[in-house]
Amino acid sequence: MTKITPQPGIMEIALYQGGAAHVDGVTDVVKLSSNENPFGPSPKVADALRIAGVDLHRYPGTDHAGLRRAIADVHGLDADNIICGVGSDEVLQFIAQSFAGPGDEVIYTEHGFSMYPILAHAVGATPVKVDETDRTVDVDKILAACTDKTRIVFIANPANPTGTMIPMEDCKRLAEGLPAKAILVLDGAYAEFVDDYDGGAGMVESRDNVIMTRTFSKIYGLGGLRVGWGYAPKEIIDVLNRVRQPFNLNNLQLQAAEAALRDRAYLDKCRTENARMRAWLIEALAGHGVDCDPSYTNFILARFQDAAEANAADAHLKSQGLIVRKVAGYGLPNALRITVGDEPSCRRVAHAIGQFITQHREGAA
Ligand SMILES: Cc1ncc(COP(=O)(O)O)c(C=O)c1O
Repeated sequence: MTKITPQPGIMEIALYQGGAAHVDGVTDVVKLSSNENPFGPSPKVADALRIAGVDLHRYPGTDHAGLRRAIADVHGLDADNIICGVGSDEVLQFIAQSFAGPGDEVIYTEHGFSMYPILAHAVGATPVKVDETDRTVDVDKILAACTDKTRIVFIANPANPTGTMIPMEDCKRLAEGLPAKAILVLDGAYAEFVDDYDGGAGMVESRDNVIMTRTFSKIYGLGGLRVGWGYAPKEIIDVLNRVRQPFNLNNLQLQAAEAALRDRAYLDKCRTENARMRAWLIEALAGHGVDCDPSYTNFILARFQDAAEANAADAHLKSQGLIVRKVAGYGLPNALRITVGDEPSCRRVAHAIGQFITQHREGAA
């Protein structure tokens, strides 16, 4: 038996499951399993990539000054309080690495994003799962679960895979009530889909225990590029920068993300179209007897009668070339998470689910 052993927690990690992209034997497939923007990124991204591609013999800057300035301009933030990462996943990783370790507790919620317990295990900390109420983060339950070992509380607002959201007043109450050594991470991967919502930036500015994370992978349509960012008090940014590799983002990532960010008209178009098709899809599924919670994101969580029905619906959708996400691993065996695609994709999903429900429920009657 080898004496070489991994660090505590590493072998507890259940590997992250990405969304499927292929169905054997089916062509004309639509991938609705990873909450990607069906329209892709702003056309300005292609130009930025062409220009950045000319200088590939040059190392990128280490401070991401251009991208941080652009983020600060667009969101009205202080560039010194911003850190950029390889997806927001990397920023979340910096946070776990910097602020939790063996003996510490990291709180996440019942249906919370699966990276949170992975990151806790990766640093040898103990992930603590707290119940939600009706698929929604419950601040009182989180506060009741805090101990003097709590170092980080991760919540996504809006949340994945439920699509639900809690009011900013509740986030404030949570930050206010945390033990002195704990940080609240407000994961804003889906914040751009919510009207008039700052993702918690204001809270970051008024407190010393809140970090907000954001991504270019969702509304900006750049999941394949891997760029995210965080906003935090300066003392925290200073800590996070110490564990960040100096060249974590390359020139292509930096230029493309900045081009996407500055195209506000494209972003508005994507937000409006997502809201329109999301409402349409929720109503269409309700018409077929399949309920969804109100969603604040670019996906819906469709709830079936039981796990068997959800699995059968998934198989039927697959047979029609529609790949959605099973979420039993998130404690939601009765549900399927369906990304809001373009209008033809949404119509295909609604039609296929209607067909399935007719066959399945009437067959059972
Ligand atoms: C809630 C949440 N946070 C963070 C991420 C990570 O996004 P990325 O690393 O692509 O920025 C995702 C991706 O699905 C997510 O759903």
